[in-house]
Amino acid sequence: MTNGSVDRKGNLTKLTGRALFESIGSPTKIVAPMVDQSELAWRILSRRYGATLAYTPMFHAKLFATSEKYRKDMWCSIDGDKKVDRPLVVQFCANDPEYLLAAAKLVEDKCDAVDLNLGCPQGIARKGRYGSFLMEDWDLIFKLIRTLHDNLNVPVTAKIRVFPDREKTLKYAKMVLDAGAQFLTVHGRLREQKGQKTGLADWDIIRYLRENLPKETVFFANGNILYPEDISRCMNYIHCDGIMSAEGNLYNPGVFCADFDSNIEMSYPRVDKLLREYFDIVKSCEGSQASKIAMKSHFFKILRPFLPVHTDVRASLASMTAKTPFEEWDDKVVRPVEKIVQDIFKQPDIEEKDKVITGEIELWGGAYKTIPYWRCQPYFRPVNGVTGDKRIVETLKSKKCESESSNIDEEELKKRKAEEVLESKNQKKELKV
Ligand SMILES: Cc1cc2nc3c(=O)[nH]c(=O)nc-3n(C[C@H](O)[C@H](O)[C@H](O)COP(=O)(O)O)c2cc1C
Repeated sequence: MTNGSVDRKGNLTKLTGRALFESIGSPTKIVAPMVDQSELAWRILSRRYGATLAYTPMFHAKLFATSEKYRKDMWCSIDGDKKVDRPLVVQFCANDPEYLLAAAKLVEDKCDAVDLNLGCPQGIARKGRYGSFLMEDWDLIFKLIRTLHDNLNVPVTAKIRVFPDREKTLKYAKMVLDAGAQFLTVHGRLREQKGQKTGLADWDIIRYLRENLPKETVFFANGNILYPEDISRCMNYIHCDGIMSAEGNLYNPGVFCADFDSNIEMSYPRVDKLLREYFDIVKSCEGSQASKIAMKSHFFKILRPFLPVHTDVRASLASMTAKTPFEEWDDKVVRPVEKIVQDIFKQPDIEEKDKVITGEIELWGGAYKTIPYWRCQPYFRPVNGVTGDKRIVETLKSKKCESESSNIDEEELKKRKAEEVLESKNQKKELKV
């Protein structure tokens, strides 16, 4: 990879690969593209809590290029604004290079790169033939990426899922890079891992790709991030350039907090404070229809641990719509939550209660935590070996067995050494006697 593309006259036209990565501050904490969820207001909030790069939700390239209404619903004048919404990657799904280029041209001045979605596993993507349902059509993927690489003023990037076969995945990733992708994001799940079958992402295959792709590749890993600690654990394991998080970030934007040990207010923010902050941001994003529409769903996620306890708030929230005036949202949801949490903090033993407790290290390498319900926290289905991709769980189990048996060996050795020492001491004693 070079530092930039060269046009017909030999002029350097745009940054590529690592130069691009460095030009946007070498971001390591990345808000994933999320349909209806990584919109403007959420990106602004996430950056305040430590995200250093954000992706837009996936936009449908043909609709974006051809329907003004669709575009207005998805994108407004503040999206990609240099002061409030950068660095930013705009993601599209597509199966036609011309529509993809036409759509990307409409945003190229308002973003740092344009990403091609090659991971969406949903039924709608199967029907529309995009996302992960292009994984069998490498020629088309090559054309889509190359068209943007050759014709867009900003670089093109790609986000992929993995195949069950490592070597095939490696070949696939190389093809995506050869086509012109400047960042590669690897979501370590198969196309089949969705919904109830989501399960664990496979960090080993992500690591294998990282190790076997050219060193200069800008490489982001995606999957299995629940807590702030998981970010450094993943970086250290995979040696990637950055970590992308979707669900972890949705339920707790504090997942990107770097000083998680000392800063509970940033790593597990109070739901009342986060709600108010986010609500104020949505209000300030006038013109962002997408931010208004996504608000109810974000409220539900922020309040996920809180609502089962305060069901009256859940009922009020359920009755809200995107058309409900902000004052009503404030009266019926935001202020009641503030009142409840402020009362909780008046309890004399609140210091004792307001603690995050870390459990045992689990099969997947991290540890589940117990977090007070008035603080943002991840929502997850614990891994039980039944859901998701059994191969990964089996590999983890056998790894655990291996490490346990090697621990036993070490323990055994230590024991033997101690016995030897004792024996020789006893012998010496006997000699003295
Ligand atoms: C609500 C939601 C919407 C998503 N929308 C997109 C999308 O628009 N484009 C995309 O590439 N992936 C999308 N994804 C997948 C995520 O970007 C990510 O690859 C996946 O959730 C795994 O990351 P996680 O384990 O951090 O959740 C979405 C995920 C969620 C939860």
